[in-house]
Amino acid sequence: MGITLKEFSTRRKKLIEQMGGNSIAILPSAPVRTRNRDVDYPFRQGSDFHYLTGFVEPDSVLVLIPGREHGESILFCKERDITKELWDGVITGPERAMEMVGVDDAFPIGDIDDILPNMIEGTEKVFYSMGLDSQFDSRVMEWINVIRSKVRNGAHPPGEFVALEHFLHDMRLFKSAQEIKVMDKAAKISAKAHKRAMEKCKPGKFEYQLEAEITHTFMDAGSRSAAYPSIIGGGDNGCILHYIDNASELKSGDLVLIDAGCELDYYASDITRTFPVNGCFSEEQKALYQTVLNAQNAAIAAVKPGNHWNHPHEAAVHAIVEGLVEHGLLKGDINTLIEEESYKPFYMHRTGHWIGMDVHDVGEYKVGGEWRVLEPGMALTVEPGLYIAPDCKDVEPRWRGIGIRIEDDVVVTKQGVRILSEGAPKEISEIEALMS
Ligand code: GLY
Ligand code: MN
Ligand code: MN
Repeated sequence: MGITLKEFSTRRKKLIEQMGGNSIAILPSAPVRTRNRDVDYPFRQGSDFHYLTGFVEPDSVLVLIPGREHGESILFCKERDITKELWDGVITGPERAMEMVGVDDAFPIGDIDDILPNMIEGTEKVFYSMGLDSQFDSRVMEWINVIRSKVRNGAHPPGEFVALEHFLHDMRLFKSAQEIKVMDKAAKISAKAHKRAMEKCKPGKFEYQLEAEITHTFMDAGSRSAAYPSIIGGGDNGCILHYIDNASELKSGDLVLIDAGCELDYYASDITRTFPVNGCFSEEQKALYQTVLNAQNAAIAAVKPGNHWNHPHEAAVHAIVEGLVEHGLLKGDINTLIEEESYKPFYMHRTGHWIGMDVHDVGEYKVGGEWRVLEPGMALTVEPGLYIAPDCKDVEPRWRGIGIRIEDDVVVTKQGVRILSEGAPKEISEIEALMS
């Protein structure tokens, strides 16, 4: 399960090929962050670093040097230390890194100031993502300055800094069979969690109690963390897009919007379901819910090779406006309403985003000023919604405070689209049957 050492090695080789000769790439691990006195946040390796190494230890640096005689992939990592390991667990150490991580060469991180300037010296291009970690940025500049200070001795500092993410993030955008398998498993776990939340929901429970059901399913299935803080918004709270307080009581007659997805083996899932707290949709809830579901179905149908990134969004917006006109929340000609963006007070976000190791994954949405064309292997979410603010004066009171989003994770295939997040009911009849 997960990604094989061979695939990590293939990724490094592919990046090295694109870098070309006379260059070096430098990629640090994520930093450990303090939560409060003596307590750190749980460490999560950086996605780029993990994508190229599978290595989960902090205080590490990956260096790639195309054509280097003693190996092109070099890892700097912590040295083994029996006392520390007694407290904090096993450290791989440079001696074992070649076998366990599959890199060609490895050195103690403590020696990096002595070794890395010599590796950089003589190269023309440094591939490095500037601006993500200011402390590490300073260290890179220090290493460059070591070389600059030796020009009179014939040292040659690099002439060019290139954004490492340019090639790397385009690689990450296209998911391999192994990656899709992990993402499929993550999505199935999350779908199960949403189903459990529907089964356990009752008026009088608190939002955090549904969060507990979700978290239980994630961890019980081997996911050690959510991919992002779960959103459990009952009633009006469902209209707050990034609501994470999850502290209110769930009331009969309200909807509850749950946006929650687990992370599994460094891959995210991202699912939203909206359902009635008491198991039964009201007429108004039904009308708007069906509108969002129609929008989602239209958007999913627009996910296929050859269509571009914005096609699913356009399809969703069309269905949303159709529904709003049908139910009298907007009045006028559908195309004009779309052109004038009259739907924006009710549908203010986009219909999806790339998904992968990061929930909002890397990859360009436009290339050369044009929407990116969808190709097999790209993974994205499809998540239209409708949010009628509790104080919205432009609609009848009966529509106010209804927040609905329906979100699934899909992959573009040769034939069209594959939905990964199946298993969480979304048809009105299915939800009502499950909750009855
Ligand atoms: N859960 C974050 C999002 O749906 O984009
Ligand atoms: Mn989401
Ligand atoms: Mn999403």
